[in-house]
Amino acid sequence: MASSDVARHMVYQSLVGIKATCVSSQPCKEEKISDDSPRCLTMTGYVGFESLPDQLVSKTLQQGFCFNILCVGETGIGKSTLIDTLFNTNFDNSVSSHFHPNVRLKAQTYELQESNVRLKLTIVNTVGFGDQINKEDSYRPIVDYIDAQFEAYLQEELKIKRSLFNYRDSRIHVCLYFISPTGHSLKRLDLLTLKKLDRRVNIIPVIAKADTITKCELQRFKLRLMSELVTNGIQIYQFPTDDETVAHLNASMNGHLPFAVVGSTEEIKLGNKMVKARQYPWGIVQVENENHCDFVKLREMLICTNMEDLREQTHVLHYENYRRCKLEETGFKDVNLEKKPVSVQEAYEIKRYESFGELQRKEEEMKQLFVKRVKEKEAILKEAERELQAKFEHLKRLNQEERMKLEEKRRALEEEINALGKRKAACELKASF
Ligand code: GTP
Ligand code: MG
Repeated sequence: MASSDVARHMVYQSLVGIKATCVSSQPCKEEKISDDSPRCLTMTGYVGFESLPDQLVSKTLQQGFCFNILCVGETGIGKSTLIDTLFNTNFDNSVSSHFHPNVRLKAQTYELQESNVRLKLTIVNTVGFGDQINKEDSYRPIVDYIDAQFEAYLQEELKIKRSLFNYRDSRIHVCLYFISPTGHSLKRLDLLTLKKLDRRVNIIPVIAKADTITKCELQRFKLRLMSELVTNGIQIYQFPTDDETVAHLNASMNGHLPFAVVGSTEEIKLGNKMVKARQYPWGIVQVENENHCDFVKLREMLICTNMEDLREQTHVLHYENYRRCKLEETGFKDVNLEKKPVSVQEAYEIKRYESFGELQRKEEEMKQLFVKRVKEKEAILKEAERELQAKFEHLKRLNQEERMKLEEKRRALEEEINALGKRKAACELKASF
């Protein structure tokens, strides 16, 4: 398919929702279907709206397209090589170390042009995936990244002054999930991550470095992987079969999932032509040879046939889910308790009323808590006062006893002094004689 045809195909795909009830080249009979269906009329001459798809093609060509790919896979599994091979170029790749303490995501955006079609391509790679000893939370940065892009779009949508027309859409359109070619089964990390991602993004699983596994092993491995995905309720992206021009191709490709891929940007001379291949002492693996691997199938499905569907699914399915959950969390509803539609204004009023009720309930709760606390404090203070009074009485008694003892002692001393005085006087009297 030439690139302008690709653009045209993408636009036609996006026009699925615009179904003309009548076209001038194939007029339909005048008929009445039901009261709310539009009447179908016959036109007697050329009007011109048949050029609507062409107008759209030209507009979207001017605007350009954007496509965002997320590559999830262990360090060194072949993510960058595959992306370079897919887009026939060398993106800025740096080799990651195996010693990152956490998983993080690295996004890079490029402008590509194929004839007159401009594509803004963002490649988001996981860095350090599968390298930590504890991998329980390895999925979290990926989920957070996907949600953050949805949130950014939602915030733009909710602005009073929106600019969605030239918005830099960073929502992930597809996740290429790289599975190690172990020939065994999915790892626990894969199952956990896929489970967390499948309701958020279109997942296309690929078996990386498929040249390291034999043909028989590969067939068995593919079957095992698919059965594991089904058993664990993991939903992967299915190539759509509703567009009859690609239904047959897509249906057959669904049966080849997960694609077993080989990546290489190295060109090797084979006969009189150059082919992309990996060279080994025993021979070469040709990347674009369908007997050697599923690379061509992946490229055809991802880029040539279903790029627009992936973009559309991201918007109408995954973003829509995110948006619905977020708005429901903030209290917005489409229907009330009687299942009757409610407007945004009504939803706001209901929420306001609910919030007011909740606020009053909380205020009442706080009042009661305050009264309870005051009573508790009062009881504690009274007890302390009682203890203090008892202490005071006790000290007072001790003081009185002490005073009485002292009084007695004083009296005894006075008597002693008196007696001594009398004895002294008697002695003095005796001495005078
Ligand atoms: P990081 O970004 O560092 O995580 O690595 P990566 O996943 O991007 O892997 P990269 O593409 O850098 O490839 C790592 C090594 O694997 C390189 O030596 C590649 O040549 C090799 N490699 C890539 N694809 C294949 C493949 O399909 N088969 C084989 N056998 N080796 C491959
Ligand atoms: Mg890389």
